[in-house]
Amino acid sequence: MQVIKYVFQPHGDERGQLVALEEFKDIPFTIKRVYYMYDTGEGVVRGHHAHKSLQQILICIHGSCKVKLDNGREQKVVPLEKPYEGLYVSNTMWREMYDFSPDAVLMVLASELYNEADYIRDYDEFIEFVKTCDTTIAVDEIR
Ligand code: TYD
Repeated sequence: MQVIKYVFQPHGDERGQLVALEEFKDIPFTIKRVYYMYDTGEGVVRGHHAHKSLQQILICIHGSCKVKLDNGREQKVVPLEKPYEGLYVSNTMWREMYDFSPDAVLMVLASELYNEADYIRDYDEFIEFVKTCDTTIAVDEIR
């Protein structure tokens, strides 16, 4: 299973670090929405869904967390602990976010506006959905 993690370019100088993200340059889609999670309680698991079409990049801009990705056949756990790393999550990935450090801020860049109708929240429905999708992602298609 292919996991795509971006390493963004920090622009560091004696004042500190700065990361800039531009659509189609650093991010492989139009960024229509940004949201972030913080103050996540100990033991909390978020996500538990896939999407019909939404693409996302997850960046833990402070602290750390883990993301479990599941493409219906395989699962992979990806730690996010650097503010300059982004995890690409395609619509066809069931995702769960957990093990948030108390100071974690998980920022999500999303290709679409919020739309509850785009969510697949039932795992059996997700398994049926991925059977109908081409889940192969070529890196050069998205970069
Ligand atoms: P939820 O989908 O449960 O988050 P997650 O799957 O990441 O654990 O969203 C929590 C609440 O926030 C829910 O009431 C819907 C709302 N929400 C928005 O209004 N806009 C958004 O872009 C997102 C992601 C959630």
